[in-house]
Amino acid sequence: MSSTRETEHPIHPLFTQRWSPRAFTGEAISEEQLLTLLEAARWAPSAYNAQPWRWIHVRRDTAHWAPIFESLVEFNQGWAQHAAALLVLVSAKQAVFPGKPAATPNAWHSFDSGAAWASLAFQATLSGLASHAMAGFDEPRLREAIQLPETHAIETVIAVGKPGRPDRLPEALRARETPNGRLPLADVAFEGRFKSNS
Ligand SMILES: Cc1cc2nc3c(=O)[nH]c(=O)nc-3n(C[C@H](O)[C@H](O)[C@H](O)COP(=O)(O)O)c2cc1C
Repeated sequence: MSSTRETEHPIHPLFTQRWSPRAFTGEAISEEQLLTLLEAARWAPSAYNAQPWRWIHVRRDTAHWAPIFESLVEFNQGWAQHAAALLVLVSAKQAVFPGKPAATPNAWHSFDSGAAWASLAFQATLSGLASHAMAGFDEPRLREAIQLPETHAIETVIAVGKPGRPDRLPEALRARETPNGRLPLADVAFEGRFKSNS
């Protein structure tokens, strides 16, 4: 896997400029900055425009922070403690689709929420902020913390903040604090039919 961010084909630099650092300055971000990120996510595409994503957002130094932060695994707490905000992305597992009288399972709730996360992440880059998604959290504990009913799935928790200096990080993380690469395009995109790489 290439460890550089050189592209094989020309694209807008935004796509390689976005990455997931773990170093944050610890500075707060304004409510307006946070709402700008959520606004970008609001315009993501979704099946039948069902918009299954829902956000629970907390800024550090508010009473809402601790229960969500403490649900993160220790590794993520180690660096996310300096983020300015945590966003829990959850999704509605059912939707009322056109022509249907009641809610039915929405097979695309996670897929569409992923599109919303990507939009938010790209807006963060455009806003001069860093965003970092995390799957490392205690699901029942987080569900309890945000009072989430079983009708909704927890997709991810996202740390957002001003990008900081890597030398603030513990040594093990400092070495990893660099944008990573991607598989070659030929390994992931096939003409006409699926090809196995293995
Ligand atoms: C759904 C999801 C869960 C992730 N979980 C974690 C996590 O728990 N801890 C962490 O440090 N990074 C986590 N990451 C970050 C990925 O490792 C990172 O996005 C990936 O290596 C690609 O790097 P880039 O985002 O810098 O381009 C997660 C990313 C995603 C999208």
